[in-house]
Amino acid sequence: MSVRLDVLADPAATCAELMVSTAQAGGHIVLTGGSTPRDAYQRAADSRDAWTGATLWFGDERCVPPDDDLSNFKLADEALFKRLGDVRLTVHRMRGELGPAAGADEYERELLDAGPPRFDLLLLGLGPDAHIASLFPDQESLSERSRLVVGVEQAGLEPFVPRVSMTLKALTLARSIVFLVAGESKADAVAAAFGPDAQPDPHFPASLLPSLAGEVTVLLDEAAASRIPAGETP
Ligand code: 6PG
Repeated sequence: MSVRLDVLADPAATCAELMVSTAQAGGHIVLTGGSTPRDAYQRAADSRDAWTGATLWFGDERCVPPDDDLSNFKLADEALFKRLGDVRLTVHRMRGELGPAAGADEYERELLDAGPPRFDLLLLGLGPDAHIASLFPDQESLSERSRLVVGVEQAGLEPFVPRVSMTLKALTLARSIVFLVAGESKADAVAAAFGPDAQPDPHFPASLLPSLAGEVTVLLDEAAASRIPAGETP
């Protein structure tokens, strides 16, 4: 129920350390897409031996082929999986190429067949509109409380392609939710979602998480934290 803001000179390094320690314990990690996590994934891959036995999931995917530059799988494949080589790990790819509805149905089945797992570490980025995964402001996907995965026909921010996304119900299966946020462009979203006056508001999807989740940690740089009043960050 609490949110911890960690303003760091190098949030990607801390994110990579959390990934490696979770992988080392054979945990379930949910990867995020976008561009911010690339550096953290590359650094986590440097600890190659830690990854044997880890299980990887995806929080969301664009409805494009896995070799498309817009694919979140392609980001993780290039920054992490290919660098790990033949390390034995389990990757549950979200098949966005099936389209939003079929892709969501398939991933829902995969999660249910797996338990669904209590993810040990769930990584999220933050859009400048405070979207999380592919749950965009004021969309009905935010009020989905029975399904774990939904199709999103209209992305609320570029890339404007349909998506497959875990729902808030799935995200809150995680023991630990960790945001990785960097840059001035995210400062308003950070304040709206995690600032001292933030309230749960579907116009800022990230603001809905703290009251639903257990432990939410935000790893961010000074620029992303620039709208948070001094003294409001540990
Ligand atoms: C996606 C991501 C999305 C991302 C944010 C931040 O599929 O686009 O899952 O939620 O984390 O949009 O993206 P950047 O890291 O590129 O700013």
